[in-house]
Amino acid sequence: MKKTLVLKVDSKELTMEKIRIAADFIKKGGLVAFPTETVYGLGANALNPKAILALFEAKKRPLDNPPIVHVGNPKDVYRLVKKVPPKAERLMKAFWPGPLTLIFKRSEIVPDVTVASLDTIAIRMPRHNVALALIRESGCSIAAPSANLAGKPSPTSAKHVLDDLNGRIDAVLDAGSTHIGVESTVLDMTADPPQVLRPGGTPYEVLKKVLGRVELNPVAVADKALPVEKARSPGVKHKHYAPNADVIVVEGEVSAVIGKVKELAKFYAQKGNKVGILATDETASHYKADVVKSLGSRSDLTTIAKNLFRLLREFDSEDVDVIVAEGTPTEGLGLAVMNRLRKASGYNIVKA
Ligand code: TXA
Ligand code: MG
Repeated sequence: MKKTLVLKVDSKELTMEKIRIAADFIKKGGLVAFPTETVYGLGANALNPKAILALFEAKKRPLDNPPIVHVGNPKDVYRLVKKVPPKAERLMKAFWPGPLTLIFKRSEIVPDVTVASLDTIAIRMPRHNVALALIRESGCSIAAPSANLAGKPSPTSAKHVLDDLNGRIDAVLDAGSTHIGVESTVLDMTADPPQVLRPGGTPYEVLKKVLGRVELNPVAVADKALPVEKARSPGVKHKHYAPNADVIVVEGEVSAVIGKVKELAKFYAQKGNKVGILATDETASHYKADVVKSLGSRSDLTTIAKNLFRLLREFDSEDVDVIVAEGTPTEGLGLAVMNRLRKASGYNIVKA
């Protein structure tokens, strides 16, 4: 166990004192959790193999699932990759800094452990000023997976980070809750047309407007478990986003969903389970269960995305056994929300 320093910062009036303390840890090969606009990341110097090994260990993350490398300036990409295709340059201009991760062929300077021995690398430039200040002050690119224990919902606050990693990392920069709440979109630029491997903070529809042709990897939109060969992104074959409780997702037209959720909640309660329902503003009043929580209005997917991981963690702190979750619309940020919910359920999906 080490002592984890909590460094509170105000992102609206950012001063450098705490950032420098955090950057010193990174420079010495340490581990620092920090906010991005999507979720909190757990950072280490991307070019320091020892630091990256420690990062995997702290998260209990399998070594075959590489992290995303975060840069403080688009120019920093060029030394990490073999080449930047023109389409990627267009995307970097349009969406960086922001919640879009691009996959490139990697260069020789990147240690094997940082990319799980793949010949590709995932890179993004985050938008959060605390993240950018940390990267720039550290003077290196920072590899940062989400700052949760492997398999758990991603952290959207410093409290979530500490719940999972207190005593396992050097410090956390605490700037309050993150804005977007789901992780970045992962887009494979080594495929033609480019392919979305993980839907996220930059919606597919928006990418299509800029690129014309973009594909969705089957795994990104799957509503059942697919064979691992279909997965181009190493992360997709591991258990993900799962609270301790069992999750069941009910998908379909809203009125049918309400009926099915009621039926399932009753069934599990009668078997003696503590039942939680993950509802929406429009439906929550229809339900009776041990715990009912609303993600937000079905017409406000931004709020739904922002609340998702926090509510999944809250069900755990209330010791719920089973979570019956409503499916949400799949346009815009909704595709990322449904991807996370379906994975959290282990594809335990009921069609209403
Ligand atoms: O918003 C985010 O992306 C957050 C914040 C902290 O930036 N980070 C994040 O990292 O979600 P992580 O490590 O939890 O997820 C990275 C995803 C995994 O699904 C991983 O398999 C995939 O990116 N990935 C990483 N390198 C890859 C590569 N070379 N090829 C394909 N997929 C890759
Ligand atoms: Mg993650």
